[in-house]
Amino acid sequence: MLMAAVATVGTMRRTRTAAVKVAAGMAACLALAACSTDAGVVAIRSERLATESTESAGETPPSTTDDTGSPSSTTPSSTTEAPTPDTREPPRPDLPTELVPVGDGAGDGLFPDLGNPGIDVVDYAVEITYDPLSDTVSGSVTLVIDVTDDRTEFTLDSAGPDIERVQVDGQDATFEEDRVELRITPAAAVDAGSRIEVTVEYSVATESVQSDIGLPNGWFNTTNGSYVLNEPDGARTWLPSNDHPSDKASWTFAITVPSGVTAVANGSLVSSQDSAGGTTWTWRQDEPMATYLVMLITGDYELVEGVGPAGLPLVSAVLRDDLEQMQPYLDTIDDQIAFFEEWFGPFPLAGYGIAITDSFGGLAMETQGRSLFSRDDFSGQMGFLEELLLSHELSHQWFGDAVSPAQWSDIWLNESFASYAQWMWLEHVGLSELDQDAERALAGRQDGMGSPTISPSVDEMFGFNSYEGGAVVLHALRRTVGDDAFFELLRRWAADNYGQSRFTADFIALAEEVSGDDLAAFFDDWLFADRLPSTFP
Ligand code: ARG
Ligand code: ZN
Repeated sequence: MLMAAVATVGTMRRTRTAAVKVAAGMAACLALAACSTDAGVVAIRSERLATESTESAGETPPSTTDDTGSPSSTTPSSTTEAPTPDTREPPRPDLPTELVPVGDGAGDGLFPDLGNPGIDVVDYAVEITYDPLSDTVSGSVTLVIDVTDDRTEFTLDSAGPDIERVQVDGQDATFEEDRVELRITPAAAVDAGSRIEVTVEYSVATESVQSDIGLPNGWFNTTNGSYVLNEPDGARTWLPSNDHPSDKASWTFAITVPSGVTAVANGSLVSSQDSAGGTTWTWRQDEPMATYLVMLITGDYELVEGVGPAGLPLVSAVLRDDLEQMQPYLDTIDDQIAFFEEWFGPFPLAGYGIAITDSFGGLAMETQGRSLFSRDDFSGQMGFLEELLLSHELSHQWFGDAVSPAQWSDIWLNESFASYAQWMWLEHVGLSELDQDAERALAGRQDGMGSPTISPSVDEMFGFNSYEGGAVVLHALRRTVGDDAFFELLRRWAADNYGQSRFTADFIALAEEVSGDDLAAFFDDWLFADRLPSTFP
């Protein structure tokens, strides 16, 4: 289907899928040094990149631990600082297993405005025109919504768009732009259990905004195009939506750009049609996707087609001038997917690819089915940073995209997992050793700095304790339950929860089910504690 569709477009290029062996670590270190001066995500990553790579570990599997499966209760896992189990306050707060809406929000503790009670979006059709001269987006979004409460009004998240008209089931609705909410009152009340279609016509002057996480997000205009980076709260700045990871939907994007410009979104290309107004690029993503995982880039892109393991369709987007420079990265996708499939189970989506945009360096995002990177981080050499970024975002397709966090405080379910996967890949290609990475990260958790991995503040969400500082939780879990149960758990986490949004409580329950162990004490010590044990189980 995809192949047939893209063939009609005429701009596709077939890539080689041969494996590319990695370059020595030196170039990677240089790349890191350059990168660590950039703002944004790199600030987070620089911590984990602080050490140099090691000698090749060859093709050995990323398994370096003993596999005794000893339960945590029999494992001396604490330093002298850790209080004894009898005297300490239990660090585990009541873990939610569902969201309780508050006001106009879904009930997210970190982002109370995000999400909207009473609605469950089933499908989005985004039909917008981007004018790169005036940097404006105009058009509409049509949402198919299952109503979950009897409502006379409901809200969408919208923080910036200028709303021109709202229709519910083809009838004009009254609406109010109420700070970060678009409040919609349909002509007639809607009942729980009904399915409605809501069309919002709007325009917006596109610009990125500073998120409370301390990094900009939303819509970025570039010299010759644009990209979006929505995580965690940027989608609402250019797209009226139910902007919370607990609500996943299927998506169609029809993006009109001046002729000669390419627009790329998630999913597979349905058509590209020229008209007087430019070219409309239509992409369809059938698999459930949260708003924060939307990818939308425009510019002078070439679509590069390939084939991954078991015929998996690959479609990447590379700036036309960068084609040669980016070939090594296109060539490694197949190997990386095959490697992770071995450990995490079959690639969970219908296709994959990478998109390399002209953003600020250090930007890397697991946009669903096609991860987004910055050309500044991809010099043409395959070095440590490139391997790290490519593997990290690819692994998110299992951990974050197939199964998403149900609330933002559960971000470790994304970032700690992707950090662990990145360690596995870096060891696989001989650029570091997983045990050493884990020891180094654990050493970084000895000062008790920052909130526990389970409960980051907004500005800690993308910080150390969510990334490598949280990956140590997984390493400790692996040591505790053994390799077989650990990887069975990861496979089942992605597969059983495909298309869903889940809480940490769900992960703990599955970990206990798969291992057969009571892991309460384990998670108290590793996930809920601020100061971690000094040695792994
Ligand atoms: N999820 C991204 C990663 O893989 C980080 C995104 C951070 N958000 C942002 N607006 N920069 O690490
Ligand atoms: Zn990540």
